[in-house]
Amino acid sequence: MTKDARPPLSPLPPLNLGLSSTANREFKFTQQDFERVKKLIYDYAGIALNDSKHDMVYGRLAKRLRAHNFNTFQEYLVLLERGNEAEWEAFINSLTTNLTSFFREAHHFPVLLEHLRANKPAGTLNIWCSAASTGEEPWSLAITAAEAFDSLRPPVKIISTDLDTSVLKTAQAGVYSADKVDKLSPQQLSKFFNKRADGQFEVKAELREMMSFRRQNLIDPMWSVRGPFDAIFCRNVMIYFDRPTQLKILERFAPLLKPNGLLFVGHSENLYHAAHLFKLQGKTVYALEKR
Ligand SMILES: C[S@@+](CC[C@H](N)C(=O)[O-])C[C@H]1O[C@@H](n2cnc3c(N)ncnc32)[C@H](O)[C@@H]1O
Repeated sequence: MTKDARPPLSPLPPLNLGLSSTANREFKFTQQDFERVKKLIYDYAGIALNDSKHDMVYGRLAKRLRAHNFNTFQEYLVLLERGNEAEWEAFINSLTTNLTSFFREAHHFPVLLEHLRANKPAGTLNIWCSAASTGEEPWSLAITAAEAFDSLRPPVKIISTDLDTSVLKTAQAGVYSADKVDKLSPQQLSKFFNKRADGQFEVKAELREMMSFRRQNLIDPMWSVRGPFDAIFCRNVMIYFDRPTQLKILERFAPLLKPNGLLFVGHSENLYHAAHLFKLQGKTVYALEKR
């Protein structure tokens, strides 16, 4: 074959660098569509999306358009605005950010352990994990409670809630791949988990006895969760809310805490705007201002 007789090269497929270029989009997603989405999620969940989330929102909701065989965001938004319940659930689950890990912000756990021991009760200690995501946080609380009382059945109850029904299912299942549990010590793994034939780690049945899981939207006017709690964990969710929404939630947390209860918040959250309610007790740990 001469040089000139070589077959033509087939064109290279376009490089997918994970960048969502507006021009290459499958669906048209205008600023007006984005504003409608922003209003819906803000009104329902208090989540304040800023303009940097435009591409993220497009990527996550494009899947919902495909699921319905819709051609436009208008069709999809009309479905939501008409109140289609199943789609609302999928919409919310698509737009929440669920990043979490076992013993995230590790400095909180020794504080909790000491707090539980110091309040060793006549009755049961109660903890609310209010943005539990896929469960790594509440199971870390359960492990801490077990370690505090050196028992797989400590006198502790943990209620875990989240807005997102899909992550709550994962939380409740309590089954994690090896990479998710790699921050745990070998002793914690063998004490609190069973290794399954598929290589995943499943929390032990005894630990489950202290746990309950339920959906709770923190901005709902009524909460099904009742105190009083020895500790409330509300970590890395208030960053999604604006200040007035944060304040409303904090005003509702205060009466649910026992007089010496503790509120644990995320590393980038502070309660300066709620100084009349909570005072700093340690790094991102708060106590009631008035007991
Ligand atoms: C980034 S995760 C944080 C998980 C865990 N607290 C941690 O710190 O690792 C935020 C969680 O807040 C939940 N969330 C967002 N808005 C909520 C709301 N209005 N009510 C309850 N949960 C909400 C999301 O579904 C998500 O699982």
